[in-house]
Amino acid sequence: MRIAVIGGDGTGPEVVAEGLKVLQSAAEKVGFEYTTQDFDVSGDRYLAAGGDPNAASIPIISDEEIAELATFDAIYLGAVGHPDVAPGILEKGLLLKARFELDQYINLRPVTLYPGVETPLAGKRSEDIDFVVVRENTEGLYTGMGGVQYKGTPNEVATQIMCNTRMGAERAIRYAMDLCMRRDDKKQITLVGKTNVLTYAHDLWFRAFMEIGEEYPELTKDYNHVDACCMWFVKNPEYYDTIVVCNMFGDIITDLGAMIQGGMGIAAGGNINPQGVSMFEPIGGSAPKYTGKNVINPLAAICAMGMMLDTLGEEQAAKAVEQAVITLCNSKLKNLGAGRMGYSTTEVGDLVVAGL
Ligand code: IPM
Ligand code: MG
Repeated sequence: MRIAVIGGDGTGPEVVAEGLKVLQSAAEKVGFEYTTQDFDVSGDRYLAAGGDPNAASIPIISDEEIAELATFDAIYLGAVGHPDVAPGILEKGLLLKARFELDQYINLRPVTLYPGVETPLAGKRSEDIDFVVVRENTEGLYTGMGGVQYKGTPNEVATQIMCNTRMGAERAIRYAMDLCMRRDDKKQITLVGKTNVLTYAHDLWFRAFMEIGEEYPELTKDYNHVDACCMWFVKNPEYYDTIVVCNMFGDIITDLGAMIQGGMGIAAGGNINPQGVSMFEPIGGSAPKYTGKNVINPLAAICAMGMMLDTLGEEQAAKAVEQAVITLCNSKLKNLGAGRMGYSTTEVGDLVVAGL
């Protein structure tokens, strides 16, 4: 396999280094071969090249680099976000650009509470929190459609269009239903939306969900409004098996999901193009205040590496990585928070390798 590596900003390169250590060990153990290639794409590079910190003035990642990334088997990404660059510039210019240009139309975010990991939900145990969120990843409120008129005047008008296509909804729903069929759970697929207010956008989603659902008679089809879903994540997360959701609501509920599974230190995600090149990343950000201190938790990045191996067909290696993480969480690690693990970033990576 050929793997493109983008360490990115802040703690991104530190956690990616631990994920790569685990990859090397897994490859030796299971017996597959791979090469990696680093892509220096980051806020630092943007600023060093003379990029304007307040407006996107030069590309964060060039079209040539995107075209090159498309030739790899997978992309491993650390983090995006720089304290000296205004919000939106790096996110749009790197993360969203890669998702859109490489048509990574699924954002796959498992919410699993591993045994021994503390959850803020009182009385909930590992067996209660184990579901997966399939977030649509290329449409909705993320397309950048819309605009501003009369900016800076009392008459200013800003619109941000929520773009929903039948094709986009359909391929996310099908992916989620196929995944739900493969999961060892209660075969329940929940569409999360807001049909009571988004009477055009989520009516399209709801009809698509019901129509496609007929092709999956074994699945229980279920619908939740997004506000109720937030309530249930906290009150009875054991209710969920597989969720399919639009881009913006998926962004929000998966941060809540990350918290109930033990925090950003453990939450991983995959930006998946089932027909193309996918990109794997920890859900957490670049954590500037922890950068360079060797205290950030690399487990989310290591779990993202596990997802990458699974997607590339190395299921045995993926399972071994996950098991090593579970064992570590359930034995030595005190806490999953940065600086509170009882070990440094590099030591946690070494412990996972030792576990493998
Ligand atoms: C995520 C992040 C991104 C998103 C940001 C950084 C643009 O929050 O991956 O969930 O909103 O998708
Ligand atoms: Mg998010």
